Amino acid sequence: MCGIIGYTGKKEAEEIMLDALEVLEYRGYDSAGIAVCGSDGGVQIRKCAGRVKDLRSLCERVKVSGACGIGHTRWATHGGVSDENAHPHMFGNVTVIHNGIIENYKRLIGKYDLQEKLQSQTDSEVVAAVLEHFYNGDPYAAIRKTVLKLKGTFALGIMFGDIPDTVFAVRNVSPIVIARAEEGSMMASDVTVLGQYSKEYFVLPEFHVAVLKKEGIELYDMSGEAVEPQWLTVSWDVNRSSKGGYPFYMEKEIMEQPEVIWETIEPRIKNGLPDLESDGIPDSLLKECSHICVVACGTAMHAGLVGKALMQSLVKMHMDVELASEFMYTDSLVDEKTLVIAISQSGETIDTLEALKYAKKNGAKTLAIVNVKGASIARESEHVIYTNAGPEIAVASTKAYTTQLAVLYLLTGRMAYVRGIFDEAKTKEFTAELMRVPAVMQEVLDRREEIHYIARSILNAKDVFMIGRGLDYSILLEGSLKLKEISYIHSEAYASGELKHGTIALITEDTPVVAVITQDKVQSKEFSNIKEVQSRGAEVILFMKESYRLDQDAAWDSVFKLPEMRDEFMVMPVSAALQLLAYYVSLDKGLDVDKPRNLAKVVTVE
Ligand code: M6R
Repeated sequence: MCGIIGYTGKKEAEEIMLDALEVLEYRGYDSAGIAVCGSDGGVQIRKCAGRVKDLRSLCERVKVSGACGIGHTRWATHGGVSDENAHPHMFGNVTVIHNGIIENYKRLIGKYDLQEKLQSQTDSEVVAAVLEHFYNGDPYAAIRKTVLKLKGTFALGIMFGDIPDTVFAVRNVSPIVIARAEEGSMMASDVTVLGQYSKEYFVLPEFHVAVLKKEGIELYDMSGEAVEPQWLTVSWDVNRSSKGGYPFYMEKEIMEQPEVIWETIEPRIKNGLPDLESDGIPDSLLKECSHICVVACGTAMHAGLVGKALMQSLVKMHMDVELASEFMYTDSLVDEKTLVIAISQSGETIDTLEALKYAKKNGAKTLAIVNVKGASIARESEHVIYTNAGPEIAVASTKAYTTQLAVLYLLTGRMAYVRGIFDEAKTKEFTAELMRVPAVMQEVLDRREEIHYIARSILNAKDVFMIGRGLDYSILLEGSLKLKEISYIHSEAYASGELKHGTIALITEDTPVVAVITQDKVQSKEFSNIKEVQSRGAEVILFMKESYRLDQDAAWDSVFKLPEMRDEFMVMPVSAALQLLAYYVSLDKGLDVDKPRNLAKVVTVE
């Protein structure tokens, strides 16, 4: 959940690392630090609790110079947020940055008699101490021996004081990508920072040691054999990693949706039919399974819920959606007839990764829907479909979610076709409607100021309820998560019909209710449920299909009329509207929209 960077080359490392840490800050942002190896060989550290901007001012006050260094931005797990717990950690001759968790760090403290010798409360400093213990001039031997002692997850950047201008990297589970740039060699937690320096990169294989030098990169396996890296090409437009004139990444990412949804669907539609051949997805995978199970967390799990509604109503396929963090602990029933779909923007969420491994062990077929190319979940899965959302930097997921939905529509259409549920004409109609999504979403985005206006009515609310039925309920679960994570307003999504079984007791005139009505078959029931909350004094903010008629007797506070699609596609315009609602509430409250408190973009701890 932390961001790491390493650089060695011809330029000042401090400048490159501070810029990179600013980009990586979405991974964790409670403290930051850098270590620079100076021309005299000495390693100097600057670190502090706070944001990268605080580290930058510290570096301006206390200069540090050298062309090799490692840097870190932290999301605290072991040890509170403090200057001494910030990375890098130096122990003797060894300086370390770490992303992950060392589960056996307490045992290691005892074993190597470190109790009185550590400066911080972190598990990471223990790694530096164990490395120092094993170091006798041979860095590979020290790294190999140390890594064999560690239990847990780690992405480590290491510098040895007596080996100038060299950065070592090794990992288990937590990601590291490495690139060769004109100015030197770099490592980082993800490609977003490498894109501006190089188009070529490789994912450091687990339990391999990379040696970054000014002149180039070497890669070794644990037996010391040289290994050829598997180079990949950065396919993301570097401009997508910048704010592009918007005040926050979240707004930019919301606005990019029509374009990235198009980029996700267009290459996968041939002759008007969904076609997943270029992703290497055989039709047999979709034909032969008897049951689908999605494993995912947070927003990605909510995408799975929409997928479940589509698969069940259109393909008549049984589909479960499991919280990845619960999957292994509830004796989930999967077998060789089950297709397990892991959905993840980052491709690094540890719960989803572990759930996927569990499914494979139990014989299930596996398919990942991932945004970040080459990420762990993509590599662990037998099959992968990449969403082409480009880098998503804001902690609150937006375009990753709607491109995940786009892939789920493609899968639904293809599955219905190959299983003979849709004939060619019906499949083409379905695909044509999917191709309308970007334009319809654009209509909602173009009217964003209307939603901005509506957002003012919940600005001062302490609690908000969101109600809807069927697909409207699925999308409200996501809308509610968006609102709470970035505005800190307590929000609950409820299936409208369930409200009167208890929760309606909480509805008062101080509790705004957001209602969504887009499904013809439950339209009248939903209007009745709205009346129930209005009768108890609640102010209702309504998002509904533009063709629906409002009851003129009721007092309507805020209504947003949504451009129309077939019912099963209405989640797309609704999701854009609810994302904007959450965004404007957070913006108008003056909060840090992109970096909400306590959160991090990539969750690599269980
Ligand atoms: O990278 P992933 O899609 O696996 O992440 C899963 C969740 O952590 C993520 O969707 C989280 O819920 C978002 N912050 C929600 O906006």
